[in-house]
Amino acid sequence: MSTFYNLVNGREAASITGRTFENRNPADRNEIVGLFQESGPEDARCAVAAASEAFPIWRDVPAPRRAEILYRAAEILVERKEELARDMTREMGKVLEETRGDVQEAIDMAYFMAGEGRRLYGQTTPSELPDKFCMTVRMPVGVCALITPWNFPMAIPSWKILPALVCGNTVVIKPSSDAPLSCWHFAKILNEAGLPAGVLNVVTGGAEAGEALLKDPAVRLVSFTGSTAVGRLVAQACAPAFKRSNLEMGGKNVVIILDDANLELALDGCVWGGFGTTGQRCTAASRVVVHENIYRQFLDQFVERARALRVGNGLDPSVQIGPIINEKQLERVEEYVRIGNAEGARLACGGHRMSGGPLSSGWFYAPTVFADVAGRMRVAQEEIFGPVVSVIPCRSLDQAIEIGNGVTYGLSSSIYTRDINAAFRAMREMYTGIFYVNAPTIGAEVHLPFGGTKDTGNGHRESGLAALDLFSEWKSVYVDYSNRLQRAQID
Ligand code: UN1
Repeated sequence: MSTFYNLVNGREAASITGRTFENRNPADRNEIVGLFQESGPEDARCAVAAASEAFPIWRDVPAPRRAEILYRAAEILVERKEELARDMTREMGKVLEETRGDVQEAIDMAYFMAGEGRRLYGQTTPSELPDKFCMTVRMPVGVCALITPWNFPMAIPSWKILPALVCGNTVVIKPSSDAPLSCWHFAKILNEAGLPAGVLNVVTGGAEAGEALLKDPAVRLVSFTGSTAVGRLVAQACAPAFKRSNLEMGGKNVVIILDDANLELALDGCVWGGFGTTGQRCTAASRVVVHENIYRQFLDQFVERARALRVGNGLDPSVQIGPIINEKQLERVEEYVRIGNAEGARLACGGHRMSGGPLSSGWFYAPTVFADVAGRMRVAQEEIFGPVVSVIPCRSLDQAIEIGNGVTYGLSSSIYTRDINAAFRAMREMYTGIFYVNAPTIGAEVHLPFGGTKDTGNGHRESGLAALDLFSEWKSVYVDYSNRLQRAQID
């Protein structure tokens, strides 16, 4: 069995705790993908020390040179895409087509951020005084601690690591213990592409290591993707030292389907958005609000399609839906199905574990649809993070928008309609960070900002050019070449 070590200061290091944990395949819990280091506070401290030491060196490497390393990493990722995707499916279950997409997202981000090395634009602007020059330049923030989830185990680390590096920061990343291998591969490839020692460090393990990272005084920025409950703790841990924190948390995303929509297209979108990645996406289409004129028709066909989905091991090319990540998450899904039943939602399909044959050794759950759901029900309010979609009837666009916005989250929303006016009205009214027309709530591209409002985020966006603002500080520079004292606002 393979053992994977922390990556600290350019070297592989066993955890100081001496403990390891198992990374198991959720489609077959008998398969151990690898043993990883169960790091403690001391491991976190060493990694932060390495990143602190590397910071002044990396900061002074010209940005275009930093970016060339990212570009080389992209080329290696392209070459190894298939094996990386297979390892990802083994460690977290989503089907091969999707894990290829996950690696592709990291490739896209690497090429995009490599280009930014020759931009990282600031502004020049006229001064209000004669013989004076004004400009803005970006500075790196310092050591960044990144904490990432298991559902996009290479794409999400890439959203954080790559802009952090191109801006001149150094990094310690702690990936989720449910899927540490993909992040580990990604970091190894960046090192192979030429990162100097200590610029990118990986420590694996649980909350103990994570908390130590947050609290280390040398860490100046924390970027976290995960649950809203943990995000709140991260914000609290960052507050006393005014660390910059970027939180990307839960979602309860909505697809609105009006009665003039192309129904086939909407069905395709809702199946993909609701059950892709086994519903384990922060952008998953977990609510579908359907106009009453087409409600029955939509529901019947949606249920038929959900029932027909082939669930199993993601390495099997005929499988469409992989397992749930672990037993705890499976129990959470079961609990929400109980809650939905108890509050009067109608279980239209699914609602049970799947076992028998090859499914017996994995964590599988049947694609589940709740019908006749009311917007205020818990299954329509709370993030389930599993293959459960709530279908809610509505009478008008206004009511759909009200239901759509009537949750504490604000990540992604979408509308299916042929009416351009309705589409633009929904675009204006939906208070979410991402909005789609005639597409489901998933499918974000790396060169646009990603993130959400309300309990989904804390005002930042990752990805796109927005990521550069997250990972750099602005400095405003005034150069007075008049050779006399000039007083702004006075002379
Ligand atoms: C997530 O929803 O957890 O937008 C991330 C998408 C992907 C990323 C999703 N590019 O569908």
